[in-house]
Amino acid sequence: MTTHPKTACWRVCRGADGLVTAGVEPLGWDATSPPAAAEVIVRVEAAGFNYKDALCATGHPGVMRISPLVPGIDAAGTVVVGTVVAGALAAGSPVVVTGNGQGETRDGAFATFLRMPAAAVIPRPAALSAEGAMALGTAGLTALLACDRLAGLVATRHEVAGESWLVTGASGGVGMLAVAVLAATGRRVVACSRKPGAAATLRALGAAEVTTPDAIRDPTPKSLVKGRWAGVVDTVGGPLLADILRAVRPGGAVAAIGMAGGADLLTSVHPFILRGVTLAGIDAASLPTQAERAALWQRLADVWPRVAATFPVTRLALGDVGTWAARMLAGETSGRGVVIPG
Ligand SMILES: NC(=O)c1ccc[n+]([C@@H]2O[C@H](COP(=O)([O-])OP(=O)(O)OC[C@H]3O[C@@H](n4cnc5c(N)ncnc54)[C@H](OP(=O)(O)O)[C@@H]3O)[C@@H](O)[C@H]2O)c1
Repeated sequence: MTTHPKTACWRVCRGADGLVTAGVEPLGWDATSPPAAAEVIVRVEAAGFNYKDALCATGHPGVMRISPLVPGIDAAGTVVVGTVVAGALAAGSPVVVTGNGQGETRDGAFATFLRMPAAAVIPRPAALSAEGAMALGTAGLTALLACDRLAGLVATRHEVAGESWLVTGASGGVGMLAVAVLAATGRRVVACSRKPGAAATLRALGAAEVTTPDAIRDPTPKSLVKGRWAGVVDTVGGPLLADILRAVRPGGAVAAIGMAGGADLLTSVHPFILRGVTLAGIDAASLPTQAERAALWQRLADVWPRVAATFPVTRLALGDVGTWAARMLAGETSGRGVVIPG
C-alpha cells in the first residue's frame, strides 16, 4: 500500500480495560488510489468541532460507537478521486459532508482525508469557503432546523408583537447561530448565557437582551410560572429546560436540542395540558434527508455573510483536538472551533 505522504488524523482508542488513549497518527489508508464503488475521497480542508466531537474525543460510548475511531461529524473540502454523482461531484468539486455516521460509526473529519459514501457528500455552495462552511456546520444546520420547527409550531395567532424568544447556551455554536437566525426573522431574542464576556457578541448577532440562567430561573416550586417565552431554542437541557418549560406562554414551543447542562428532564404535564406548550425534539444528525441538507446548506450560505464578522471562530490544528474537547465539555468555549487538518 502506498500511503499519501501528508496523511494524518486524530484518532481515539478505547481499550478493553476502558482506558482511552488519543493523539495524532498517520491515517493508515491510501488516499491516492481510487475509492471503492460509490465512495468518494475528500481532501478535508476544514472540520467543524461539535459538542458530539468533544464527547467522542473523550471516548464517550454514546458517540464513539467503534474503536479506534477518528472523530469529526462535519467536514468541508474537495473531492480528490471521486465517483461522479449526478454530474455534481467530479474530482475537484468543493463539498461538505455532515452526519451520516462519520465520527460515530465510521472514521470522521479530524483527518487530512475522509472516505465517505458518495450519497453522503453534498456540493458546497460557491459562497462558502471550507472554513466558513465549518464555522457553521452541524451547529448551523441545527439552528435552522430548530427555528423552522418553532416557526411552524408557535401558531401565528399566539404570536404577539414584541414578545420574547429565548436561546439558552447562547455562547455555544448552536446558541449563537440560533440567536442570529431568529433575530433575522424579526423576533425579539433574549440570549441566555453564563458568560458575561459573550454579551457584546450576542448583541451584535441580534440579541435584544442578554441574560443569565440564574436570572431566568424561578425559585417557586409551582408547575407553572408567569408565561414569558413564545419560543425557546434550548441547547442546555436538564434542570434549566425543566424550569423554562414552566414559563412558556400559551401556544408556545420549545426546541430541545442539547444536553450541555444535563440529560435528565424532571417536569410535569401542566405546561402541555394547561398551556398547549409543545416540546419538539431536533435531530440534525439523522433526520434531514440529503436533499433537505443540500437546501439547508444553500440557506447557510446566505446566513454566513451576516454573521462572519461577528461570530467567533477559533482555528485549531489536529494536535489541539484533545485540549479543545476538554474545554468544550467544561463549557469554557465560545462560538465554534474549526480544525484545519492540513
Ligand atoms: N439535536 C441535535 O441535532 C444537535 C445538533 C448539534 C448539537 N447538539 C447538542 O446541542 C448542545 C450544544 O452544542 P454546541 O455545539 O453548540 O456546543 P457548545 O458550543 O459547547 O455550546 C454549549 C453551550 O452550553 C452551555 N453549557 C455548557 N455546559 C453547561 C452546563 N454544565 N450547564 C449549563 N450550560 C452549559 C454553554 O453556554 P453558556 O456558557 O453561554 O451558557 C456552552 O457554550 C450539545 O449538547 C450538543 O450535543 C444537538
